[in-house]
Amino acid sequence: MILQSIGSFAQAALLFTSLASAELPNTFSNPILPGFHPDPSCIHVPEDETVYCASSSFNVFPGIPIHASKDLAAWKLVGNVLNRPAQLPDLAISNGSTSGIWAPALRKYKDTFYLVTTLVHDKRAPDDPTRWDNVIFETKDLWNESAWSDAVHFDFVGYDTSPSWDEEGNSYIVGSHAYHVQPGIHLARVDLHTGHVQENWTNLWNGTGGLAPEGPHLYEKDGYHYLMIAEGGTGLEHMETIARSRNLYGPYEPNPANPILTNANTSSYFQTVGHADLFQDDRGDWWGVALSTRSGPEYVTYPMGRETVLTNVTWPNGSWPIFNDPIEGTMQGWTLPQASGVLPGNGNLVSEGDDDLQFERGSRLPPHFVHWRPPIAESYSTSPEGHPNSLRLRPSSLNLTGLDGNAGGPGGQTLVTRRQVDTLFTYHVELDYRPETIEEEAGVTLFLTQNHHARLGIAMLPVGNTTTLAPHCRFQAISYLPVPESFITPVPSAWHDKPLTLEIKAINVTHYTFSAGPADKSAPLEVLVYVPGSIVSWGFTGTLLGVYATSNGGNGSTPAYISHWNYRGEGQVRDNPQPISS
Ligand SMILES: *[C@@H]1O[C@H](CO)[C@@H](O)[C@H](O)[C@H]1NC(C)=O
Ligand SMILES: *[C@@H]1O[C@H](CO)[C@@H](O)[C@H](O)[C@H]1NC(C)=O
Ligand SMILES: *[C@@H]1O[C@H](CO)[C@@H](O)[C@H](O)[C@H]1NC(C)=O
Ligand SMILES: *[C@@H]1O[C@H](CO)[C@@H](O)[C@H](O)[C@H]1NC(C)=O
Ligand SMILES: *[C@@H]1O[C@H](CO)[C@@H](O)[C@H](O)[C@H]1NC(C)=O
Ligand SMILES: *[C@@H]1O[C@H](CO)[C@@H](O)[C@H](O)[C@H]1NC(C)=O
Ligand SMILES: *[C@@H]1O[C@H](CO)[C@@H](O)[C@H](O)[C@H]1NC(C)=O
Ligand SMILES: *[C@@H]1O[C@H](CO)[C@@H](O)[C@H](O)[C@H]1NC(C)=O
Ligand SMILES: *[C@@H]1O[C@H](CO)[C@@H](O)[C@H](O)[C@H]1NC(C)=O
Ligand SMILES: *[C@@H]1O[C@H](CO)[C@@H](O)[C@H](O)[C@H]1NC(C)=O
Ligand SMILES: *[C@@H]1O[C@H](CO)[C@@H](O)[C@H](O)[C@H]1NC(C)=O
Repeated sequence: MILQSIGSFAQAALLFTSLASAELPNTFSNPILPGFHPDPSCIHVPEDETVYCASSSFNVFPGIPIHASKDLAAWKLVGNVLNRPAQLPDLAISNGSTSGIWAPALRKYKDTFYLVTTLVHDKRAPDDPTRWDNVIFETKDLWNESAWSDAVHFDFVGYDTSPSWDEEGNSYIVGSHAYHVQPGIHLARVDLHTGHVQENWTNLWNGTGGLAPEGPHLYEKDGYHYLMIAEGGTGLEHMETIARSRNLYGPYEPNPANPILTNANTSSYFQTVGHADLFQDDRGDWWGVALSTRSGPEYVTYPMGRETVLTNVTWPNGSWPIFNDPIEGTMQGWTLPQASGVLPGNGNLVSEGDDDLQFERGSRLPPHFVHWRPPIAESYSTSPEGHPNSLRLRPSSLNLTGLDGNAGGPGGQTLVTRRQVDTLFTYHVELDYRPETIEEEAGVTLFLTQNHHARLGIAMLPVGNTTTLAPHCRFQAISYLPVPESFITPVPSAWHDKPLTLEIKAINVTHYTFSAGPADKSAPLEVLVYVPGSIVSWGFTGTLLGVYATSNGGNGSTPAYISHWNYRGEGQVRDNPQPISS
C-alpha cells in the first residue's frame, strides 16, 4: 500500500489491526455502476488511494461522469468532465440517438488527468471524416469540475481513442479506425496539449476477426506492449481480445487464448460483456472493468442499458492477463481494498442512489441530473419568485420526440432527468401546472432516446369536438417495438386546480406503471398504463427518469412547477430474475 503521510499510515495501521482477525471481504456485487454507465475506463491513483472511472454519455449533458471509490464497492459521483456547453459546443447539434460522446479513456500522467474521447455524429455519411470529432480534455484537479479544460480537437477518422506514454514522455493515441471504412486499431504520436498528430497513423492490429474491433487500450508490462480491444459488436457476441508486441509499432501477436473475457454463449443474466479496461489496486492486485447488460441471453428487456461491471484478473509476469469470467451478479475476487480515510474533495460527492429533492432557493441542479443535449439555461429555475421549493420548467416548442426522433432543434427540448439505477424503483414528482393554450403539455417520462420513450403529461386539449379547452391526461410512447396505445382522457374534475402527483414505478423486471392522482391525496393514485421495459431496451444508452414541458409546436408558454422530486430504489435483480433487496 502506498501511503501519503504519517497520518494516513497511522489510520491505515489502525484499520488493519481492527480487521486483521476478521475475514477481509472478497465478495462483490455487479454491476458496480448500475444504470446508463457504458464503456468504463478506470485508473487507480496511488496518491489518493482511490479508483476513478469515466463512462460514456452520448447526447446527455452534463456528460462524461467520473465516479470514485476506495473499496471498489461504494461508488460516488465526483462530477462531469463535460460540464459547460462551451467546452464542446457541437454536442448541441448532435443528430441521432446513437450520437454524442462515445467511450472516454481516463488516464493520469505525471500530475495531469487526461480524458480522450470522440463526439460522434452518427447520422453523417460513413465516409464523412467529420463524423468523428476526436477530443482531449485535461485537468490537474479532478475534484473541481470547472478545472476541466475545453476540448482540444485532433484528427483521426475513427473513435474509442485512448492515450498512453513511453518512457521518454512521448504521448500516443490508439483508436478504432472507422468501422464502415476499413476497421482496425491504429496508433500515432499525438501532442495532447495541442492535438497535433505528429506522424501518420499505423495500423497495429485488426483483432481476431470479430465485428468492429474497437475500445483499444495499451498497457506496458514486463517488456511487452499489450493491446487489449473489444470485438463482436456491443451485443450478445461482445468479447475482449488481446495481442502483444515487444515493439510499440508491432507486429502484434494475438493471445492463443482469445477471447479473454466474454459472456457470449452463457445463460448468465449478464450479457454483452466487453469494452474492458485494467487497473491495479494499492496491493498490486489486478482488476478489470467492462460493460454488460442485465438481459439474460433472451436480450429483450434491459432498460438500464450497458452498465459497468467488475472482475478480478490474474496477470502473471511475462504472460497474458486472465479474467475471472463469466461475469455474474455476485463474484469472489481479490480481497477488496479497505476504505481507509475519506474520499478526496470533501463535500463534492453525490450518490446516484435515492433522491428526495426540494429545489431550495439558490440551489443548483445536482450533478447527476442530465438533459438531452446542452440545456437552454433559462428553461430551468429553482424556487422562482412565488414558487418556493420548486423547479420551474419553461416549455420548449419541440416535444420529446422532436422533429424526426433524432435531431435536436432550435429551442432545445425542456427535459431534466436522472438515471434509472435500480431494477425496481418508484419515481414521483408533484406537478403544479395551469395550462392555458392549446397543445401545452408537461409531465413525466421514462426516456431512453427521442425515438424510444414513454411519457405521461397534462395537456391542454379540446373537449370532445368542441372548441372548449380543458386539461387532459395524455400518454404517448414511441419505440421500434409495438408500444401501448396512446390515450387522452380528461383530467377528473376532483383533480382540477390542484397539484398532481405523477409516478413511474418499475413493478417487476419487465414492466413499469405510470400513475397519477391529486398530490393532496384526496384521491388515491390511479395506475393509468402498464409499459413494457422492452420498448426502452435498444441502442447504446440507458433509461432516464424525469420531467418535461412543451408547447408541442404551438403558442403556449405557461411554465410548469415541479416539486417533491423523489426517486427510491426498491431492489436490484442480479441473477436470472429473482429479486433480492438492494
Ligand atoms: C439528421 O439526420 C437525418 C438523417 O441523416 C437528416 O435527414 C436530417 O436532416 C438531420 N437533421 C439535422 C438537423 O441535421
Ligand atoms: C476550480 O477551477 C476553476 C477554474 O480553473 C478555478 O477558477 C477555481 O478557483 C477552482 N476552485 C477551487 C476550489 O480550486
Ligand atoms: C504520411 O503519408 C503520406 C501519404 O501516404 C506521405 O506522403 C507522407 O510522407 C507520410 N508522412 C510521414 C511523416 O511519414
Ligand atoms: C488490417 O486489415 C487491412 C484490410 O484488410 C489490411 O490491409 C491490413 O494489413 C490489416 N492490418 C494488420 C495489422 O494486419
Ligand atoms: C458463441 O458460439 C458460436 C456458435 O458456436 C460461435 O460461433 C461464437 O464464436 C461464440 N462466441 C464467442 C464470443 O465465443
Ligand atoms: C514480477 O515482476 C515484478 C517487476 O515487474 C517483480 O517485482 C516481481 O518480483 C516479479 N514476480 C515474479 C513472481 O517473478
Ligand atoms: C479471482 O479471485 C478468486 C479468489 O476469490 C481466485 O480464486 C481466482 O483465481 C481469481 N481469478 C482470476 C482470473 O484472477
Ligand atoms: C411531437 O412533435 C412532433 C413534431 O413536431 C409532432 O409530429 C407530434 O405530433 C408531437 N406530439 C404531440 C403529442 O403533439
Ligand atoms: C366528433 O366529430 C366526428 C366527425 O364529425 C363524429 O364522427 C364524432 O362522433 C364526434 N364525436 C363526438 C364525441 O362528438
Ligand atoms: C410484470 O407485471 C406485468 C403487469 O402485471 C405482467 O404482465 C408481467 O407478466 C410481469 N412480469 C413478470 C416477469 O412477472
Ligand atoms: C399562434 O398564434 C398565431 C398568432 O395569433 C396564430 O396565427 C397561430 O395560428 C397560432 N398557432 C397555433 C399552433 O395555434
